[in-house]
Amino acid sequence: MKEYSSKPWRPFTANCCSVDDQPVFGNFRRCRPSRSSEFSKDVASLPSFRKLSVSNLSRSSSTRINEDLAQSFGQDLFDFQLSELRAITQNFSINYLLGEGGFGTVHKGYIDDNLRQGLKAQAVAVKLLDIQGLQGHREWLAEVIFLGQLRHPNLVKLIGYCCEDEERLLVYEFMPRGSLENHLFKRISVSLPWGTRLKIAIGAAKGLAFLHGAENPVIYRDFKTSNVLLDSDFTAKLSDFGLAKMGPEGSNTHVTTRVMGTYGYAAPEYVSTGHLTTKSDVYSFGVVLLELLTGRRCVEKSRPKTEQNLVDWTKPYLSSSRRLGYIMDPRLAGQYSVKGVKEMAHLALRCISLQPKDRPRMPFIVETLESLQHYKDMAVSCGQWPISPKSSRNGVPVKVRAENRGGFYRKSSPVTPTRKT
Ligand SMILES: Nc1ncnc2c1ncn2[C@@H]1O[C@H](COP(=O)(O)OP(=O)(O)OP(=O)(O)O)[C@@H](O)[C@H]1O
Ligand SMILES: [Mg+2]
Repeated sequence: MKEYSSKPWRPFTANCCSVDDQPVFGNFRRCRPSRSSEFSKDVASLPSFRKLSVSNLSRSSSTRINEDLAQSFGQDLFDFQLSELRAITQNFSINYLLGEGGFGTVHKGYIDDNLRQGLKAQAVAVKLLDIQGLQGHREWLAEVIFLGQLRHPNLVKLIGYCCEDEERLLVYEFMPRGSLENHLFKRISVSLPWGTRLKIAIGAAKGLAFLHGAENPVIYRDFKTSNVLLDSDFTAKLSDFGLAKMGPEGSNTHVTTRVMGTYGYAAPEYVSTGHLTTKSDVYSFGVVLLELLTGRRCVEKSRPKTEQNLVDWTKPYLSSSRRLGYIMDPRLAGQYSVKGVKEMAHLALRCISLQPKDRPRMPFIVETLESLQHYKDMAVSCGQWPISPKSSRNGVPVKVRAENRGGFYRKSSPVTPTRKT
């Protein structure tokens, strides 16, 4: 990993801030590189932060929260008034709706030069959180605290926030191409070409590598296609830091926490034990690689039983170059590098290893993916793989179905989904 990971940050010291009433991070000193000047281009330095606590702030009045956040973030984040955000989104008009997630709607807005001094005219995305109880508020706060401090080309930029009475909003830079989820799975859009998929995978991997690259890493915990947003040139940026968590400190190997995230993406050991590490993110990254290769969602209940779980279905194909062609996204129509997809499949297989220690680290993943960009061989031109299987039922070749009956698959772990898939 050339750009970031070898340059450690100064850790956030867990001493005051918590989500789930557990330490997440405190000492809001900006995470800064200890030695690199190159790194500081991506992580803007901030003066020391006042100590904030999600648990304390969770119980504070909105006035108190605004005061604390304003003192901590100063000019780096704008504290908007609800009336301002109403005005720039035409009162959260349905015509300006960009999408809807588990916690509310996202609307496009236009900021002009006159709204705030120091804020340039630009399009923004305004997330209107439907906070019911503390969890919604905590996620809002975690997002402000994490994204307010983290700056990187592969993380979406948080411009500001709004906390008025019961209302909680977030204002981000507008990402013109929306989410990876929309491009991969919504049939209205043109299929993403192989080179673009690779570019997106690299960008997202760099974002995760940056988060994991701290001395005390940040675990993203909700890596999935709907949280990978795309700039006009398909640069990938991670959004949604509501579930992010500081990594283990000192001699601890993991953080123990309530199981949260999205069904299908969460690592099996995290689901079964609540033990969270950066390798949990690597597992989720592997699932997204599978989605990029196959064009299928990680869980599709409408498929035949053996194909419903993407990890279970694809595993037998990933290690075999001969079989891999069968699971490739038909929308690619064979227009991809055969060498490239083989190596990506091999990488995905390592990422979804059951043992976290067998999963690669994000810097290695970035390097591997970058090396695939040089392959120019195309499946269609060399005729190496059929576009669709000849002797298959429901897209699964007969031979592999027999292996499935032999108990090749592990059973998928139960998970308590806290957010929609
Ligand atoms: N900054 C942004 N620019 C453009 N579109 C955005 C932006 N942020 C979000 N969106 C759109 O809004 C949609 C909803 O985002 P949101 O994060 O609320 O939900 P989600 O990721 O789909 O689900 P979940 O609640 O599980 O995270 C996204 O999928 C994306 O299409
Ligand atoms: Mg999201």
